[in-house]
Amino acid sequence: MTAEVISGTKVSEEIRAELVEKVKNVKAKGVTPGLAVILVGEDPASVSYVTGKAKAAEEIGVFEETFRMPASTTEAALLAKIADLNKDPKFHGILVQLPIPKHIDEKKVINAIDPAKDVDAFHPVNVGKMLIGEPDFMPATPSGIVELLMRSGNDPSGKHVVICGRSNIVGKPIMAMLVQKVKGGNATVTVTHTGTKDLASFTRQADILIAATGIPQMIKADMVKPGVVVIDVGVNRIEDKTKKSGFRLVGDVDFDAIKEKAKAITPVPGGVGPMTITMLMVSTVKAAERAAAARK
Ligand code: GUN
Repeated sequence: MTAEVISGTKVSEEIRAELVEKVKNVKAKGVTPGLAVILVGEDPASVSYVTGKAKAAEEIGVFEETFRMPASTTEAALLAKIADLNKDPKFHGILVQLPIPKHIDEKKVINAIDPAKDVDAFHPVNVGKMLIGEPDFMPATPSGIVELLMRSGNDPSGKHVVICGRSNIVGKPIMAMLVQKVKGGNATVTVTHTGTKDLASFTRQADILIAATGIPQMIKADMVKPGVVVIDVGVNRIEDKTKKSGFRLVGDVDFDAIKEKAKAITPVPGGVGPMTITMLMVSTVKAAERAAAARK
């Protein structure tokens, strides 16, 4: 079997086309959706994500401003910037691109963002609401994964989903979303992590495997069962002298081998990556729609 390749680029285009209409409607009510992005330092991957976010916002008609702060920025200065943006009605969404430099306490920064503008859904209030099944905002990468599954005809309901990785950005929130008794959820969920013994004995049970380990090509073909649906969240740079840049991007699964065994698989790049940015726009537009409704 050669797997269907689930294109995040294509699914993103569909969702962005839907968003263009929503943005027009909210603008007609006198509200232009606004997103503030704070980038501290110049980590190349972060610069690339932030540039992608600005481009996507422009394409769909969202007002976006990126606030670039030097790596030497103090914690107090960053918290003051967030406090200003919390009060600024131009911005319905605020996000601080992670990671931030080590001398700044990430928890304090996340806690400082007004939960009503927390389009990343990283604030503990939003994480808690999502866990109890009463979400305001959904985190971008996990909701992108659910959209990819649903729009490719791979509803997780009743399926055994194995998630490799327990990060706060991907593993834990996708676990919380898939386990809910809702459309796009209702799955039986297993989470594996660095403390898991005999990883392959779990991954082989997966109807749907979500790889978010951060380890390049860690999941091999003998670790999955035939007909599995694979969502690869990994974005890893590995050396490749044949490329002008000197590197290429690979995921957390051995794509070439697993594609011969799976029912469907997401590529890297062009899978989960574009969805993350698109789902951030979905949250920003939702925040603006709430602001428009509150004006009445
Ligand atoms: N760094 C990696 N992924 C993300 C994300 O979804 N949001 C933010 N703010 N930073 C990230």
